[in-house]
Amino acid sequence: MPYQDLMDFDKVGSLNPEVLHSEEIYRRELATVFARSWLFLTHESQLPKPGDFVTALMGEDPVLVTRQRDGGLKAFLNVCRHRGMRVCRQDLGNTQRFTCSYHGWSYNSAGTLVDVPMEDHSYHNRLDKPGWSLLQVPRIETYHGLVFGCWDEEVPPLADYLAGAAPLLDPMLTRYEDVEFVGPMKWRLVGNWKLAAEQFASDGYHGGTTHASAASALGTDLTAMGKDENSLQLGTALGHAGALVTPAHLPLTMRQGETGAALPELRVAHMNVFPNFSALGSGLFRVWQPRGTGEMEIWSWVMVPAGADDETRRALLNKVSLSFSATGIVEVDDSENWSEIQAASRGHIARRLPLNYQMGFGLDRDDDRIPPFDGKTGHMTNDIGARYFYTRWAELLDGEPLTPAPSGPALL
Ligand code: FES
Ligand SMILES: [Fe+2]
Repeated sequence: MPYQDLMDFDKVGSLNPEVLHSEEIYRRELATVFARSWLFLTHESQLPKPGDFVTALMGEDPVLVTRQRDGGLKAFLNVCRHRGMRVCRQDLGNTQRFTCSYHGWSYNSAGTLVDVPMEDHSYHNRLDKPGWSLLQVPRIETYHGLVFGCWDEEVPPLADYLAGAAPLLDPMLTRYEDVEFVGPMKWRLVGNWKLAAEQFASDGYHGGTTHASAASALGTDLTAMGKDENSLQLGTALGHAGALVTPAHLPLTMRQGETGAALPELRVAHMNVFPNFSALGSGLFRVWQPRGTGEMEIWSWVMVPAGADDETRRALLNKVSLSFSATGIVEVDDSENWSEIQAASRGHIARRLPLNYQMGFGLDRDDDRIPPFDGKTGHMTNDIGARYFYTRWAELLDGEPLTPAPSGPALL
């Protein structure tokens, strides 16, 4: 059965919850969605100097991003070519060598295997060391400082990929002359990664109910944001989606800065770059890392102006983290929902029960306040973003998986 049949966005507006539970679908996601899409790895501010590195994930594959002597960036599968140990187990740092902690094979910043313990005694100097170097991620590109990688050599350029998301991304990324990403804070959560990605892409509807108590504690009226007539949600053909709202309707904890916006009358509320890189207008950035069908790992960064004094920096970090972080008072409401859905929908009956994606169904339109793009818009409280997210997801699942066949050379 085509994966497209897991949803009906033509007549009814519904989705099969099997997308959250099937092992077969999950394996297919790793081979089609995560192996073929541009994935967020880090921000350039996290590795400014030669020898700097960060570790990241591409789907379930661990990767290592390194700053080269010439200032360029490279990324590698963070898996030792000897027996498969993770070569680097730190979040970030600076080094000339990555030495595997199992048997001591050692790689330089360019990923080349440069040293092997007892090479003469054990391998009789016949090991083809360059041939057993780290596997390089073939494509790595940046957009306003965001670093993305892709395993698919043939993927279109990152700038083309993100063009439809520019009305959402650019106002945030150009807010300050220069920015620094702080993080990532990491934690695990029960729930399929798509629950979170879809919500950030599309769900402007839940705030008034889910966050009622947090909103009252923060002195915010989330219902006003949901009813904002000028707001818009957009969904793009490549699966990126998000919402823009009138600044006065944004909760205080989601506001940051008033400069550099492409749309002076609207501010970014929430968004998702397909498949799993999300942001809030407050300068919060997220990756929802897939960890099996029923678990995700959340990696979370806060954007601050580069060179900000301690007080400004701390105030920004506190403002964002108070609501969104492992213990954020808004975050925990969302987390509870995703974990609950994962548990409630896994039974034999529930996992076949169509879920409702009818909000704004049939009302998709263009909006002349933003440049034309491949996709449509609607009011902020809408399922349009979710429908575009899942449509793109199914398109990839129905396409060819990426199955590279890396090789290793024989002894010299
Ligand atoms: S697994 Fe890395 S040196 Fe053996
Ligand atoms: Fe929420």
